Amino acid sequence: MSVETSKDVERFPIPNPGLEEHVERFTDVDKAAGDRAYHQIVMMLASVPVLAIAFVVVYFAVPKETYLSVFADRYNAQNLLLGLTGGLAVLLIGVAVIHWARTLMSDEEMVEDRHFAASPDADREEIAADLAWGIEQTGIARRGMIGKALAGALGVLALPALVPLADLGPWPTAELRKETIEKTIWAPGMRLVNDVTYQPLKASDLEVGQLVNAQPEKLHDLHGTAFQVEKSKSSIIIVRMDPNTIKIPESRKDWHVGGILCYSKICTHVGCPISLWEQQTHHLLCPCHQSTFDLGNSGLVVFGPAARALPQLAITTDAEGYLIAKGPFTVPVGPSYFERDSSLDFKEGDQ
Ligand code: FES
Repeated sequence: MSVETSKDVERFPIPNPGLEEHVERFTDVDKAAGDRAYHQIVMMLASVPVLAIAFVVVYFAVPKETYLSVFADRYNAQNLLLGLTGGLAVLLIGVAVIHWARTLMSDEEMVEDRHFAASPDADREEIAADLAWGIEQTGIARRGMIGKALAGALGVLALPALVPLADLGPWPTAELRKETIEKTIWAPGMRLVNDVTYQPLKASDLEVGQLVNAQPEKLHDLHGTAFQVEKSKSSIIIVRMDPNTIKIPESRKDWHVGGILCYSKICTHVGCPISLWEQQTHHLLCPCHQSTFDLGNSGLVVFGPAARALPQLAITTDAEGYLIAKGPFTVPVGPSYFERDSSLDFKEGDQ
């Protein structure tokens, strides 16, 4: 309890109520309860290395394509188990530290008067002494196992943080990019199908002003991750515009069917799927950062952060009148990246 001085009277016009009487905690008065709390804390911290090792085992032992049914939903088994083991390990450290602070560390109330910001040497020494006293009060000297368990738990926790770096994948060389992010399953003769009904589309199915979300008919031959990866690259939008109201460069003259044009659905900014279509202006708006593309002018960017036009897929019709691709995309779809050469997007004289 501090003694009130004349200085205090100046600084505190309202009388200092002083400290309330200290109330002992159950772990202060009952040694058995204190020991119980101590063991609980050590047990929690000791579980962390086990969970961290389980995380690493799950990472390597559980196949990425395994799924678990939990209630009515299906979850990727590896993701679920990594989340449970990693999350529980971090949670246990947090709970153990809070339990330690609330039950075993000293909770004696104290008063510390304000002082000037610059501390004299004597104060610094006093602070160092206070710090040492505080450490002493945590009981770490007497109950050294907590400190060691905490250090061990934090150290081993580096493993779950480092191991997933293996998922960063191989270095994206030009050859690898050509076979992965720069390639879709679009090929000559592949039909364009509605991405909801999976029905192949005919030119007569589209009216002027209409937009349809579509995909390659072979997409549904793929499954799991291969399906997801390909869908994220090969999804398209088909729009029908009055051919007299749009501008078609010389090199793309035979890429459309009577004003039906087909573009990648993946925004060239950072890859959001797009289909906000303004049929009067022929503009397509990306909802993520408002990049706007003019589909009546080769998908050129008219507004927003996207750095290049939407890739266009050349289409024609087959003998039965269904819309088909004339070939793959001539340029990579999706967001730009440093190595990509946007000068290939258009032929000379197109713009
Ligand atoms: S992802 Fe489309 S504007 Fe950013």
